Amino acid sequence: MTEVATAGGGAYEIFIGRERLAERVGALGEELGERFANAPEPPILIAVLKGSTMFLADLIRAMPADVAVDFMAISSYSSNEATQVRIVKDLEHDITGRDVVIVEDIVDTGLTLTYLKRSLVERGPRSLCTVTLLDKSARRIVPVEVEHIGFDIPDVFVVGYGMDFQGRYRNTPDLYAVKDLARLANDPLLLVPGLFASAH
Ligand code: IMP
Repeated sequence: MTEVATAGGGAYEIFIGRERLAERVGALGEELGERFANAPEPPILIAVLKGSTMFLADLIRAMPADVAVDFMAISSYSSNEATQVRIVKDLEHDITGRDVVIVEDIVDTGLTLTYLKRSLVERGPRSLCTVTLLDKSARRIVPVEVEHIGFDIPDVFVVGYGMDFQGRYRNTPDLYAVKDLARLANDPLLLVPGLFASAH
């Protein structure tokens, strides 16, 4: 959206810089703090591994509230044109009667969030809401309610600030848009020299 990065042959550009991320995540933290200002017990924030870990770390530090944190990991795979989602790491907390916040990096088709919500509602939380850093609302397949949204973004593939391509590029402070996904798929290391100046 803003500065065009030169390395990587125009394959990527900065999409949301660290200052804008910090500002928006700070505002989301305040929003959530207000939401739970009168809660009987600290809310449990559930981060979906691994993409939302950086967002979670910044979000909870921006929340002027006592919170608990837990993690879930899910895997999704497609078979016979249907996408299957399953839990590969479950919660340590019993969420029965608790206020629960799902912390997502991106809501894209909505399949993952729909599955997660269904699985968590069955456990009888006092309340359940979702905060996502990014919402690709134009790509939604399953309508799903998202109460707190950082940025509504178009259909671009992003990496950085926790988000990956084949496990890489999570650890950049800025968020990047991949402009040529086919090229990156052919050469998954394409962005390394540009994003990590001292890469060997
Ligand atoms: P959904 O089930 O299609 O909503 O998938 C959401 C998940 O897909 C996110 O939590 C991400 O892990 C992944 N994802 C979707 N879009 C992107 C992207 O642009 N970059 C990196 N991961 C993405």
